[in-house]
Amino acid sequence: MRRSLVAGNWKMHGTRQSVETLLGGLNQQDWPEEVDLVIAPPALYIQQCREALEGSPVSLAGQSSATQAEPGALTGEVSPAQLRDAGCEYVLVGHSERRSLFGETDEMVCKKFAAALACGLRPILCVGETREQRDAGETAEVVGRQLQVVLESFGVGGLAQGVVAYEPVWAIGTGLTASPEEAQDVHSMIRGRLAMLDDEQARCVQIVYGGSVKADNAEALFAMPDIDGGLVGGASLNADEFGAIARAAGRA
Ligand code: 13P
Repeated sequence: MRRSLVAGNWKMHGTRQSVETLLGGLNQQDWPEEVDLVIAPPALYIQQCREALEGSPVSLAGQSSATQAEPGALTGEVSPAQLRDAGCEYVLVGHSERRSLFGETDEMVCKKFAAALACGLRPILCVGETREQRDAGETAEVVGRQLQVVLESFGVGGLAQGVVAYEPVWAIGTGLTASPEEAQDVHSMIRGRLAMLDDEQARCVQIVYGGSVKADNAEALFAMPDIDGGLVGGASLNADEFGAIARAAGRA
């Protein structure tokens, strides 16, 4: 059976002091054993998190990484090899904020996915449609296209080495969560698409939902058959709330 996964994306939040407080709160949580737990702090604080989380089941992720594993003249970038060296096991790839604000294309996302895998990181591939695309009935097409580039290069087996995060853009940071049924529809569409290529591997792919996940809506979302956990933004900045979301995944 697939394990659940709950990841917290801290985005560009935190200071050394606030990170210390948050880590202290995380270390007081009662973590469920059957859930993969991940936090993605700003790169600057990965080391601080690694030290504070020594012996904890919480793994570390980068929020983004370069399109290449090799060192190079790429001012401001962090390579997946460096993330691995710093103790990360995961990296977010193709988050909608990277796509819309930093011009990441599907091709760049695919290169990042490849470079992350080559470094032994599990890429968390983010996909999702905008409000306009949903209203125009284009959700399946948009999400399908975002997956396609990675599938063409790596197949379902390659995707299964990472994680898929369905994050409808209109639900991110807006307080507007997709209903469990709306999210399940897209998750099952994604799994169905993968199953057409490789039924066995498709059943192994962890597909998590992101977009205004909170402690009070997590349980209903995670109860859906194809929702294997969550990618949590704002609510992951509160240790108790993040802990409660993780425990909801443990009960699902
Ligand atoms: P929110 O949970 O704040 O909506 O953010 C979701 C997200 O973008 C996680 O990557």
